[in-house]
Amino acid sequence: MQELSDIDDSLQMILNVLADGQFHSGQELGAKLGVSRAAVWKQAQKLQAFGLQVHSVKGRGYRLAGELELLSAQEIAAQLDSEAHQLLSQLDIHRVIDSTNTEAVRQVRASGYVCLAEYQAAGRGRRGRTWISAFGKNIYLSVVWIFAGGAAELEGLSLAVGVAIAETLTDIGIEDIQLKWPNDVLWQGKKLAGILLEMTGDPAGECQVVIGIGINLQLPSQIAAQIDQPWTDLQSIIRQSGNMDIEIKRNILIARLLSKLLPLLHSFGKDRFLAYRERWESLHAFSGLDVRLRTANTVINGRIKGVTETGALRVDTATGEEIFYGGEISVRLA
Ligand code: BTN
Repeated sequence: MQELSDIDDSLQMILNVLADGQFHSGQELGAKLGVSRAAVWKQAQKLQAFGLQVHSVKGRGYRLAGELELLSAQEIAAQLDSEAHQLLSQLDIHRVIDSTNTEAVRQVRASGYVCLAEYQAAGRGRRGRTWISAFGKNIYLSVVWIFAGGAAELEGLSLAVGVAIAETLTDIGIEDIQLKWPNDVLWQGKKLAGILLEMTGDPAGECQVVIGIGINLQLPSQIAAQIDQPWTDLQSIIRQSGNMDIEIKRNILIARLLSKLLPLLHSFGKDRFLAYRERWESLHAFSGLDVRLRTANTVINGRIKGVTETGALRVDTATGEEIFYGGEISVRLA
């Protein structure tokens, strides 16, 4: 297990002290860091650049707006189910990275390599979109898995991953999670989580797949203002559904997700999407609804019928049933 720091040591140290959400005086922080109070002030300003709100109050010092639960490889590993524990080959936590998917693609790793970050400076979404980031509040996770049977073995994998996310969230008490084909996780029509699969290697033989997952736990509104589609986060869902007993701990949520995801990846080559189809259909947000599909050069109207046993979308159109195989397709309610 390795925890990598990509922000400099003193910034990390100040973050570790402020993570408790309490006030710490400039003098105390300066003494801990071995720098002047003016240097502490500069570091506090830097934290704001990562989307962290730092309150500075005369006579009391600095405090983060709310407690910060930093990611911990030890805590995650300790909370994993035993099967997932065996399947985990390495867990790296970065404070700041360009993108956990990019990092996982850069690293040539064995199955079960997990890369997490507190903050992504260049997070990527599907269809060339940016996946925005706020430090220490959300989940940015990538898992590497090697598949011997090439691209054919991967059909429907991203949909199955959606089922694992939805069921993990349902297990912790979040109700009404739905999936939108191919792999958006929604709550009341708003995007809560996204999945980005990237494949390298031989499409006809052994290939390495990076499964990237982003889950919104707490998106500050000034950062979320950059998102160009309806979105939500777990904090808002809990508030809106009045279910305030649910307490979300990132390390525990990650461990629960990996406890589903790693066994899923391990057995997917054998089980295939067929083993997940029924569960996916039961979570399908647009089931039986009229939609508009946009491909690279056409727009098609139709009514959603469901998914095939490999996870392709079945749509009733004016010319009969058509099957859509993913890629750069967007689906919107008509
Ligand atoms: C989508 O557009 O719905 C996919 C979003 C995927 C975001 C995750 S966050 C972790 C991983 N690293 C990235 O840069 N993207 C994925």
